[in-house]
Amino acid sequence: MSDTNIKVKIKIKFLIQDHKKIITNLEDMKNFLNEKDIFENSEVIFILLAKLTKLITMHLGLEDKYVYPQLLESDDPKINATANKFKNGMGDLGKVYEKFVNKWDLPKKIQENPQEFINEMNGVIQVLTKRIAAEESDLYPLVA
Ligand SMILES: [Fe+2]
Repeated sequence: MSDTNIKVKIKIKFLIQDHKKIITNLEDMKNFLNEKDIFENSEVIFILLAKLTKLITMHLGLEDKYVYPQLLESDDPKINATANKFKNGMGDLGKVYEKFVNKWDLPKKIQENPQEFINEMNGVIQVLTKRIAAEESDLYPLVA
């Protein structure tokens, strides 16, 4: 394996570690998605959400640097198409996520609308979990 290949493999390993951190955050969050915890621990939920946003933002920056450019410049049209599909999908998901975190920008707002927060957070958990699984099965293996 060439040095470049080794470097790429290491980068992908880091990206998969990010995914694991995101999944762990989502698992932690799930434990708080009930009215009692939201009433008593909205500050903790808010901190988890802020950490999630930070993890996602950093991770997307790395994917933009180490995953997409190479795949979008590939001579293989199939690889281009898959990379485009994932990149566009992430753009849409990013907008939805931004709207979501801008809405829940204070612990008090979460505390005052528990059921609405639970529904929306569950939606985010589902979309992110699916997205991560799809990247690891269909996108990252294309990086070589
Ligand atoms: Fe990712």
